[in-house]
Amino acid sequence: MASILDKHKIIEKNATLLLVGSLLVVSIGGIVEIAPLFYLQNTIEKVEGMRPYTPLELAGRNIYVREGCYVCHSQMIRPFRDEVERYGHYSLAAESMYDHPFQWGSKRTGPDLARVGGRYSNEWHVQHLSDPRAVVPESVMPRYAFLAQTAVTVKNVGMDLQANEDVGVPYSPEMIAAAEADMKAQADPNADTTALLARYPKAKIGDFDGDATKLTEMDALVSYLQMLGTLVDFSTYDDATGYR
Ligand code: HEC
Repeated sequence: MASILDKHKIIEKNATLLLVGSLLVVSIGGIVEIAPLFYLQNTIEKVEGMRPYTPLELAGRNIYVREGCYVCHSQMIRPFRDEVERYGHYSLAAESMYDHPFQWGSKRTGPDLARVGGRYSNEWHVQHLSDPRAVVPESVMPRYAFLAQTAVTVKNVGMDLQANEDVGVPYSPEMIAAAEADMKAQADPNADTTALLARYPKAKIGDFDGDATKLTEMDALVSYLQMLGTLVDFSTYDDATGYR
């Protein structure tokens, strides 16, 4: 024991040797951590069910970002018991793989929204977004009633899909070409949505804002909220292997 300590004394008393030794140790640690990133094809495991956003959901997501919803809401359920019991299965990396930019957030004035999809009806969301205190009297959330009055911009959605494709979201040329039609069809209960559903499995169809005559920002935002966290089927997902 004493002899090891004696030898260590040599390093401790020689600044140059200590520096060289430290560099050596840090380099080994660095290489072990960084080198695999160069040959691993993907650092995010593939999870069944994940698909790019529909054009309407993407438009809703843009409104979410524009309005700064992330300032009060996170979209990242941490693997802690209290969070999992309140919000559901902890978030998987794959669940935000098509998010540019991601919406993990860092502040929870309101609850986490990563799995809010399907938790409430469309009517609830419209009422809540229009006047949060109408449904949750103690709420401090601002009103977003104007969203139901504001027509959502349809003509740029193809370009938006293209921009996402440019940074790696697998939108096909067919999806981009059909973007405007898909956007309108998703909020139209009478539209033929067979092709839309083939392109975007599990997409929720319907008149989201309660007014079938207009395609509003409310339609887009509610369609986005209603899909959050619903793509991965956790009854067939296994924590250890990814599949059951
Ligand atoms: C000033 C902070 C603040 C902002 C900004 C904000 N919210 Fe909230 N939000 C809250 C609070 C607090 C609650 C909890 C009380 C309630 O339900 O209203 C909440 C609740 C919610 C809920 C219900 C969640 C649940 O599980 O019950 C949804 C959905 C929601 N907000 C969506 C949004 C969206 C979409 C935006 C942006 C358009 C937004 N919020 C902006 C504070 C905020």
